[in-house]
Amino acid sequence: MPVLNRVAELHDEVTGWRREIHSNPELLYDVHETAAKVAGLLEEFGVDEIVTGVGKTGVVGIINGNKNDSGKTIGLRADMDALPMSEETGKEYASQVEGKMHACGHDGHTAMLLGAAKYLSETRNFNGRVALIFQPAEEGGAGGKAMVDDGMMDRFDITEVYGMHNMPKLPVGQFAMREGTLLASADMLEITVKGKGGHAAKPDGCIDPIVAGSAIIQTIQTFASRNVDPLNSVVVSITQFHAGTAFNIIPQEAHLSGTVRCLDEEVRTLVEKRVTEIATHVALAHGCTAEVNYDRMYPPTINHVKQVRFAGEIAKSVVGEANVDMDTPPVMGGEDFSFMLEARPGAFIYVGNGDSAGLHHPAYDFNDEAIPHGISFFAELVHKSMPT
Ligand code: NI
Repeated sequence: MPVLNRVAELHDEVTGWRREIHSNPELLYDVHETAAKVAGLLEEFGVDEIVTGVGKTGVVGIINGNKNDSGKTIGLRADMDALPMSEETGKEYASQVEGKMHACGHDGHTAMLLGAAKYLSETRNFNGRVALIFQPAEEGGAGGKAMVDDGMMDRFDITEVYGMHNMPKLPVGQFAMREGTLLASADMLEITVKGKGGHAAKPDGCIDPIVAGSAIIQTIQTFASRNVDPLNSVVVSITQFHAGTAFNIIPQEAHLSGTVRCLDEEVRTLVEKRVTEIATHVALAHGCTAEVNYDRMYPPTINHVKQVRFAGEIAKSVVGEANVDMDTPPVMGGEDFSFMLEARPGAFIYVGNGDSAGLHHPAYDFNDEAIPHGISFFAELVHKSMPT
């Protein structure tokens, strides 16, 4: 079963929505116009129930099948937010808002789910319900968590959830996924080192927080090589180190911050513990004190085995077995669909974006040729998981 005929017919219309969303990027939870456009189109399609303001600015649409006694509600999720950066694609539909850009393809994800919504509202050839989930604030705002915390899963009786992200360099017309962990946890680390300031020419009368901070950074880098199973993965990157006001003053404090990425919860818990121990004890060895704030932001994105195998079968039915990679390697980026996968069984998969610039790059653009594949995947997933 290749791309559905009716889906191919919708290609131009969906491309139009995608480009309109692309021109008007909005950030985090401030996706009011995008959410209003989504809700307006769902209404036009005749979606049975439309609820706005879920998880602040998320939208959920419910489509009832021709039959509705399977007890199943399949959640399909797209993200709506853009990034705080300036666009350099030179496209005629480029961002009209300086400093905001759809550089992660969430415009494409939203448009594809709208396309699936239109198709499924027309056909309703399934036994059960579809929950169309349009979330805000994927880029660092935990909008997925906000929707789950808002009771979305129970309120709409969602039984399984599926999400899709475009993947640059993966050819258009291909899908990729894996069982288990696909993406890492994404946590934030802040360390404040306190010493005793004074004249730079008289360090013996001071306790230098910069030297202590440097030692902490060096020692933290031994964590991955000495504390974690070499076959497991962890990244600890200190990305900010702020201290001091002048060349001849030893400051009172130094501030460090960075990010921690892990592929499983056990390692994540170990990193939190060890990073805190290293920072406080190394600071102490230099006569300083350290305060550590470890903020657990996004959990790892872990695909459920049964659901990702099912997603793989659906993908193969759309693009052929040779075009589906069931063993794509995990990467250390994060994704807040992870919160939905903690709440319900499901899978997160990649759809090929072809030879585009990378995600979060100013020259990146979602590839409209991927649209029919994404919509067909969603539609077939609904048909086959809830047959009439
Ligand atoms: Ni993204």
